Amino acid sequence: MKNVAVVGGGLMGSGIAEVSARAGHDVIVVESNEEAGKAALARLEKSLQRAEAKGKIDAAGDVLALIRVETDLGSVADRDVVVEAIVEDEAAKVALFKRLDEIVEAPDAILASNTSSIPIMKLGVVTSRPTQVIGIHFFNPVPVLQLVELVPSLLTSPDTTARSRAWVEGSLGKQAIDCQDRAGFVVNALLIPFILSAIRMFESGFASAEDIDRGLVLGAAHPQGPLALADLIGLDTTKAVAESLYDEFKEPLYAAPPLLQRMVDAGLLGRKTGRGFYTYA
Ligand code: NAI
Repeated sequence: MKNVAVVGGGLMGSGIAEVSARAGHDVIVVESNEEAGKAALARLEKSLQRAEAKGKIDAAGDVLALIRVETDLGSVADRDVVVEAIVEDEAAKVALFKRLDEIVEAPDAILASNTSSIPIMKLGVVTSRPTQVIGIHFFNPVPVLQLVELVPSLLTSPDTTARSRAWVEGSLGKQAIDCQDRAGFVVNALLIPFILSAIRMFESGFASAEDIDRGLVLGAAHPQGPLALADLIGLDTTKAVAESLYDEFKEPLYAAPPLLQRMVDAGLLGRKTGRGFYTYA
């Protein structure tokens, strides 16, 4: 697989584009409009400059030269693999997979989704090639975290899974675990209820955000506490994943607490908007 496209150049999409370009792939990032395209490019530049300063790559400019940001989805026609990383919204993803199916020309191209919680089957069945649709779920920040969850649906072919594994492990240098096509896969099915419990604890006045996070960092050796992690993931994404888990399993532990709902309504989405459980400069 040589030519890669990433649709959606937000937090995750820009990270996936970065690791793909760092592995030497020719990468197209498709964003929904010019302004979002500029933001994606700025995010990529900043991250690559940081990687260069840390000595992880030789020259940020050389990696950036492998990435093209477009607003026309038609530009992904010649790609070998397309990774969808748009907002966590089932209707939007379904509409996108229908269009990708019409646009992508290579008969063996892989159409992947980075969704955190939407069943891959829902995306596969709207295409004429469900055997080539798979979940390739990266973790945030993509250039740093090693894990990728590989999520074949019941209709994904073993060949698609094998080629996806070869790409993420052999080319991108990640480590893959295999998951069934269930909302939340492995990591979020465990992580999201933990974060929601921390939000409920904070909401009830049981402890401050700082103390909850310090408790888990100092007492359980977590690299960061659950509320700081929710701010990093994005509170809109956290809520969307919780809702998908709740839809699938109907378990109260997956229900988004009122405070999370209100913070999302208020646009307090965490790091990306400068304020969530904490404020950011
Ligand atoms: P984000 O909000 O940072 O980025 C989404 C991007 O998609 C935005 O830049 C938006 O302009 C763009 N977009 C929306 N509709 C589009 C369309 N039709 N065509 C092209 N671009 C479009 O969201 P984030 O956090 O990057 O999440 C993206 C996906 O990755 C979601 O499915 C999410 O569940 C998943 N994910 C998120 C993680 C996280 O920690 N935030 C971790 C792993 C997966």
